Amino acid sequence: MALQLGDIAPDFEADTTEGHIRFHEWAGDSWVVLFSHPKNFTPVCTTELGYTSKLKPEFDKRNVKAIGLSVDPLASHEKWADDIKETQGHALNFPLIADPERKVADLYGMIHPNASDTLTVRSVFIVGPDKKIKLTLTYPASTGRNFDEVLRVIDSLQLTSKHQVATPVNWKNGEDVIIVPSVSDEDAKKKYPNGWTAPRPYLRIVPQPQG
Ligand code: BEZ
Repeated sequence: MALQLGDIAPDFEADTTEGHIRFHEWAGDSWVVLFSHPKNFTPVCTTELGYTSKLKPEFDKRNVKAIGLSVDPLASHEKWADDIKETQGHALNFPLIADPERKVADLYGMIHPNASDTLTVRSVFIVGPDKKIKLTLTYPASTGRNFDEVLRVIDSLQLTSKHQVATPVNWKNGEDVIIVPSVSDEDAKKKYPNGWTAPRPYLRIVPQPQG
């Protein structure tokens, strides 16, 4: 069965451009973005890896580690890394898993045979420090992902893991949030002594809690 939200992200060992890793040990107490690429030396993947490298300071601020996966061998990853640096202006600065036997790709269901027997789809798994899967995304090979959206989701996940709030449509860090329905008005008054706006009793809007 496909991996689902709340499942423990399966552990694995793999060779990467930053050495051999055990996934859970490598993740440590960080959040993780694990994402797959259909193939090395392909244009869309090249742009995604360059952009994700550019975002490293943003990932670091949020205690997030990125790790890519491609079913090509390590020597090929190392050559491709040169192209990424030259064409995207950002050198690869996170590990890229070499998975020529598709062990990790199979473990995570990254090959969708009705799309392609051999190439991985563009999967994204966000994993929390508790090693549980918090988000899954699947894009087709022909559509590059939006890694600003990945960051936005991480902001929401980190906020909602600390506070009993949810984030509304198109929310961005710093904008108003919603008190979750499981919090009674009585409890909400204790948490939000300045009150909230409620166009409907179930739609209670407050400024984003800090900390
Ligand atoms: C790409 O990354 O450019 C790509 C890979 C596989 C199919 C189509 C595009």
